[in-house]
Amino acid sequence: MDGIAIYREIAEAVYQQNISTVDLRFQKEWEGKSPDLILLFEQLYGRLEYKGDLFGKLLEVVFNAKANRSEKWRQRDRQKAQSKAWFADHRLVGMSMYTDRFAGQINDISDRLGYLQLLGVNLLHLMPLFESPPHESDGGYAVSNFRKIDAKFGDIEDLQVLTDLLKEKDMYLMLDIVLNHTSHHHEWAQKAIQGDAYFQNFFYFLDSKEEVDEYEASMPEVFPESAPGSFTYIPELQKWVMTVFHQYQWDLNYSNPLVLAAMLENIFFYANLGVDVLRLDAPAFIWKQKGTSCQNLPQAHQILQLIRVCTDLVAPGIALLGEAIVAPRDIMKYFGEGHSQGRECHFAYNATQMALQWDMLATGETQVMLEAQQVLGAKPPNASWITYTRCHDDIGLGYEDDSIRKAGKDPFLHRQYLKDYYSGTFQGSPAKGALFSVNPKTGDARISGSLASLCGLEKAIQEHDYPGVQTAIDKIMLMQAHSFFIGGLPMLFYGDEAGYTNDYSYLKDSSKNYDNRWMHRPIINWEKNKLAGLSGTIENQIFVKTQQLIKIRKAHQVFQDQSNIQWHYHLPNGVAGFERYLNDTVVHCLFNFTAESKIIQLESLFDDTTQFLDLWSNTVFQSTCPINMPSFSFLLLNSSKKMEDNAILE
Ligand code: GLC
Repeated sequence: MDGIAIYREIAEAVYQQNISTVDLRFQKEWEGKSPDLILLFEQLYGRLEYKGDLFGKLLEVVFNAKANRSEKWRQRDRQKAQSKAWFADHRLVGMSMYTDRFAGQINDISDRLGYLQLLGVNLLHLMPLFESPPHESDGGYAVSNFRKIDAKFGDIEDLQVLTDLLKEKDMYLMLDIVLNHTSHHHEWAQKAIQGDAYFQNFFYFLDSKEEVDEYEASMPEVFPESAPGSFTYIPELQKWVMTVFHQYQWDLNYSNPLVLAAMLENIFFYANLGVDVLRLDAPAFIWKQKGTSCQNLPQAHQILQLIRVCTDLVAPGIALLGEAIVAPRDIMKYFGEGHSQGRECHFAYNATQMALQWDMLATGETQVMLEAQQVLGAKPPNASWITYTRCHDDIGLGYEDDSIRKAGKDPFLHRQYLKDYYSGTFQGSPAKGALFSVNPKTGDARISGSLASLCGLEKAIQEHDYPGVQTAIDKIMLMQAHSFFIGGLPMLFYGDEAGYTNDYSYLKDSSKNYDNRWMHRPIINWEKNKLAGLSGTIENQIFVKTQQLIKIRKAHQVFQDQSNIQWHYHLPNGVAGFERYLNDTVVHCLFNFTAESKIIQLESLFDDTTQFLDLWSNTVFQSTCPINMPSFSFLLLNSSKKMEDNAILE
């Protein structure tokens, strides 16, 4: 029997055993997708002796999960299937938050749904909720039990109550699955330390320092300051274990298919809790090979595609988000390439565009960003971005040197300027951030700091500089607007809607003070947030304007992501602009990233419309008159010929 025939036979047998638990849709999907599943499994594990048994085990996981999918979530799957790509809908707006720092416990979130709904947010990304050791947690990304909610948040029943409530309110939930590693307190790691060979094979153990050096020679360091190197010595075993992130996060070994099967079980456990978007944490790292960077390897993509086939079968309503913060050329691969295009992740973070927005804000220039569009524009239409200005992580400047060179700049000096600007060491910079993960060997560094502080609000408040406060608010809104309309699901970061500046209390906490990303992870003070309702306050200005951006996005289908974007290359330097189009509607979105006002000739938009309505200010502009764009302002010029699209929002 040839290699593939073995799998076909096993697949048929497992299918027949489980036929009573599958629905019609599954039957159809199975016919289409099982050949892909077989192929991917063979590519990844075909070299293994017991590949047939291992494949059978994987299928059991899939069929059990399907049998356990409750009717309420199957119904929601069917509902989502009615739209071509529910996850790209312009009416979705998300917010990421730490449950404890935003609300308290899971139960307390329900009290805050009114606030989120008032703002217009309808998708909640609750950052890791599962058990994680308090002093070695990496914000929950070091999981010691994938099935138990950390006691500080509540328990699994609380999460179930919340998912039901969200469903009732037509809201969506996003959770993380930390794919790449476990905490060293996880049962698998503990058993490995005790000498259990079965679980030692769940991780990468090396016997000698020489081999460690061989691996590390080509592996970039993720946290060079707080966790240098990629291996940690385990004295009990006299071996080194791979720890690409912190020493307490052990990398899982996906070359062992039992790891994949065990993690798929965890994925389905989350899926069957009623999750709508599953954020696959750090997927770039899930396959390792000596002599490579151990990032973005082809097998990592095969695993993601295999996960996609399985979730499509079990929980077709789930959208997968690949949290790959990698160079522009690499990011495209997470949507699937060639035959696999559209068969990997539904979403990826548009981290390049995010960083380029910060680039434009610091330089007042747009060329580097425009150069990068050559690559980013290749996103397939059946997949989408998560667009954002800030999140819980740092801002990396990992876009291509080539884009910087083509814009006539030296990549090293250009990045140096950005680092100086945002860490506030550049004279005259209004920003208050900090460098994160400085690597003296490579000169690399990333940037920490909250949206408001990086836009100058913290400094302006400290210096009682009223015009500075207004400029900072303008910058905040410019940044948010750019990420709201560029296409994809905008993901706010909690606190940014109320202008939270950096929080330095982490410096007094020994479990956090080695990681300055905590400076931009605020603890919400609901007294301060009440100011969002008090006209004239800073909080209110930012909240109301964010609310308005959300309203505009939700009211206009043209902002739905169908890769319906075209960049403008003839605007004055410093003004970024693109048009979003759908049927008869065109909206030109223009953003002045400079500290000067800029004159825009509407003819440069190559649009024969005689008048435009700016959706932001509700002002009508005649195409014959040039527009004066004040510093750090933006325009959303609707040239729709259909009256209903021009309807002025209340
Ligand atoms: C992801 C998370 C980050 C974490 C890392 C390791 O990049 O966003 O916060 O430190 O994974 O899990």
